[in-house]
Order: sequence, then structure tokens, then C-alpha cells
Amino acid sequence: MHRRTISIMSHFLGIDVGTSGTKAIVLDGTGAVLGTGSGGHEPDAPQPGWSEQDPEAWWPSSVSAIGAACRNAGVEAASIDAVGVTGQMHGLVALDAAGVPVRPAILWNDGRSQPQCRAVEERLGIEHLVAACGNRMLPGFTAPKLLWMREHEPEAYARIATVLLPKDWIRFRLSGEMVMDVSDASGTAVFDCARRTWSDDLLTELELPRSWWPHAAEGPEVVATISATAASETGLRPGIPIVAGAGDQAASAIGTGLVAEGRVGTTLGTSGVVFAPTDAWRSTPDGRLHAFCHAVPGRWHLMGVMLSGAGSLDWFRNAIVPDIDEQAGDDAFPRIEAMANEVPAGADGLLFLPYLSGERTPWPDADARGAFIGLDLRHDRRHLARAVFEGVTHGLAQCLDLIRSTGVEPRTVTLSGGGAKSELWRRTCADLFGTPVTTTSTTEATACGAAILAAVGAGAFASVEDACASVSKEKDRIEPGPDREVLMARHEIFARLYPALQSEFPAIAGNG
Ligand code: XUL
Repeated sequence: MHRRTISIMSHFLGIDVGTSGTKAIVLDGTGAVLGTGSGGHEPDAPQPGWSEQDPEAWWPSSVSAIGAACRNAGVEAASIDAVGVTGQMHGLVALDAAGVPVRPAILWNDGRSQPQCRAVEERLGIEHLVAACGNRMLPGFTAPKLLWMREHEPEAYARIATVLLPKDWIRFRLSGEMVMDVSDASGTAVFDCARRTWSDDLLTELELPRSWWPHAAEGPEVVATISATAASETGLRPGIPIVAGAGDQAASAIGTGLVAEGRVGTTLGTSGVVFAPTDAWRSTPDGRLHAFCHAVPGRWHLMGVMLSGAGSLDWFRNAIVPDIDEQAGDDAFPRIEAMANEVPAGADGLLFLPYLSGERTPWPDADARGAFIGLDLRHDRRHLARAVFEGVTHGLAQCLDLIRSTGVEPRTVTLSGGGAKSELWRRTCADLFGTPVTTTSTTEATACGAAILAAVGAGAFASVEDACASVSKEKDRIEPGPDREVLMARHEIFARLYPALQSEFPAIAGNG
């Protein structure tokens, strides 16, 4: 194998296997972005509340994304020196002994394992679970999906030999190696996050074989190399290193420079996430926040995850304004934002509950459902649009309050993800968070985080912290404004709505 010396002339590739497609990015040896590319794949919802994807569909979209990123960067795929992978977290990729998926992957936003989660929490107790792994047993997480399979698909379950997460499946296709990383492993619900290793106790208590779970390495560690087969399909050089990488949230945090306590980030992607790095292990006793390993060695993070973040706006676009014609050159999202801007903060009394796929934080409830509340005769689709922006932000503000309750005080909140492009959304966040809100110069923060881990693993930077300092620059700072008062008054009402409706949601969702 011909290995090049790592220098500012080096190229690092980050691959992000997301829910609605794969993105890739090429960085040079200084961390500057040379180009990005993407390839599409679709989620499948075979039943309400379910969300699946064929892992096989992630490979062509990844190959396309790699090709497009290199083309757009103006470099040959063969000039890439190291690869980092990231992707949607928690998705169950169950493989047989030959490394073939035994069924489609069950994704992070799939709520089918709620009964299994309830049963485990009743049997073992939330306190015990939080002590063992730092977290509750939530339907989005990986292990309860295995418990669902054991009950409902015993034949497929009996064939399982290894469990991977989505980005690890792509690494497997790139290298033939089955490995995880600690940040993504944290979202399985059987990983002892405080000790950064599998929880043998929990695996025994849940009767899940220890042999299914691959080694979980630290994010920048080199764990595999590109195989000859993958090289022929992608154009990458055989033998170049692949690092362990990260779950998409930890990767996006690295891409936006969120590596030390006091910085807080919010990602407005399909999900809506509030992410707070911590310098030492911290968890919440009731597991209301996720407490996971960061992909930065020796650091952790707290996280609140809303299942429908900017995804709520995708729903709005498809369900309420399908007439916006992108073919005719209309750009849907700026038009929806302009529509929402025509009505005042508070949407003339209309509130939106963003529980379109159930919810995780602050209310772990797969049966929760979305709602517009407060409709009156004045309201039209402009109010609905404004209420969607605000409803998602009310939920994010609740996550931030939980983070504050652990003693982490955010100085600023850094927004990323597609929703951060919206000035209205950034303003609403500043108003409801009560902190300055910024974005960063980083494009495609998640894929970029994976590429940074590759650069660190290859030796281009001494540490993840060093790499972040040279890659991510703050911009678009917005201070809380005059709408804060009206939005905070609405926030109090918003906070009372889920508790008021909670007992009705199972029946509304058809599970009561
Ligand atoms: C994080 C989570 C989501 C997915 C989205 O816990 O479930 O953010 O990772 O890709």
C-alpha cells in the first residue's frame, strides 16, 4: 500500500448516512472545505409509528455522495487520505453470520418498541437503568428494538450474529470490519456511558448476547482500512484508514466546534436536538436527558432530542402548502418563512405541538401526537406556519431548561442543520432560549465532524479540540429581542399542554 505523508495538501473525507440521504464532504489538511456531495435514499413507514430503511439502499447513496463530493472538490477520490463515518443514530442493523441484514433497519424515529420499553422499565426500574447505562430504555434506542424482534420476529431474531448502527454498516461495506464508536454505542441503551464500554450487567438482564456487540472505539481512532472491493466501487485508495467516527449528533457538534462545557448547540434537522458537551460524566437521575459519550476522547454530552424538528416544517410543506411548485422555480422553505413572517410572534394565539412522530425529550412518549391548539376564525396558513416554527422552538427551549437544571449554563447557543438557514427560526430560538444564538461557518456540520475525526486520526491535528479551533468560525449572532415577552407568555401555556393531553394520547394514537 502506498501511504502519503499527511500535510496541508492531504484530503479527508466525511460520510454522513442520514435519514433522507447520504452527504459527503472533502476537507483539505487545514480543515478547509473543498467540496460536498449527496446521494438520496428514502425512509419507509410500513405502519403508523414505524420507520424503516433497507441498509442496502445506503450503499449506492454513499457511493454517489463520495463521487459528487470529490468532483465538487475538484479532487480525485484516489487523493483522499483518510475517511470518517457518521450517521443517523440508534438504527438497528441486525446482521446474520454472513454479514447480511436479517430484516430492514429499524430507525431512530420508530416507536414500535414502546411496550418492550415499558416492560423493561417496570421490571428493572428507571434508576437502575440510569445507573447502568446513563439513560432510560426509550423506543428510539437500539436494544428495545431487539426485544421487539424477539417477540414478533423470532425467526429473524434467531439468525442475528452482529448488531451494527447505520454508519457502521457503511464502514463494513467500505472495509469488511464490524466496529462501532462510543458516541453511537451510547444510543443503544446497553452501553455503560460513564465507563465507555458495554454494560455486561444490562446485556445479561435483557438476555442479549454479548457477542453481538462489536468493539466500540473512540471517535478519532483508526479502526479499519478501505478494502480492494470498496476501492473499485468508490475510487478511494485501498488501505487508507477509516476512523471510528461518531453518531450524527456528536459529529455535528464537532463540526460546529462544540467540544467543551459551556458551549451548547441546537440542530434543526429532521429531529431537533439540544446538545451540551460536559467535561466530566453527568446524567439526570430520571433519565430525562440523554447522557452519552462525546466523540471527543474523555468527554461526554447531555442531549435533548425532539423527534420532529425541522421535520415538522417538511410535514407542513407537504400537507398544507403542496401547491408551492419547486419545479417552477419556487423555493418552498423561504416562501413558508415569508408566510410565517406576515403574522406576529405568538401566531395570534395559535400553538403547535410538534409530536408528529411521538416524542422523546422532554416527554418520552411514542404515543404523543401533533396538534394545533387555539384555532379561531382569524387563522389561515400563515398562522399555521408561524405556529410550526414556534412550536418546535418551544420544545427545544424545554430541552434547554432541562440542561440548565443540571448546572450547565449556556453562554451562547450555536444553531446548525437545515432549519438554521431560517432567520425567523434563529430569532425565535434567541427569544425563547434567552441567550444569544449564532451559527457557524461550517457547511454540512455532521459530515464535516466525521472528516475532522478522520483528519485527527490520520495525524493532521494533535487533537479534536485543535482541529475544531481551526475549522469552525462563529457568525450570524442574534440577541434575544422584543418578542421574547410574548413568546415566554405562550411558552408557559405550551408547557401545560402535553401534561393536559398525556392521558388521551394512547387512545388518539390507536394504542389505548
Ligand atoms: C439522536 C437521534 C436523532 C438521529 C437523527 O438521538 O435520534 O438525532 O440521530 O439522525
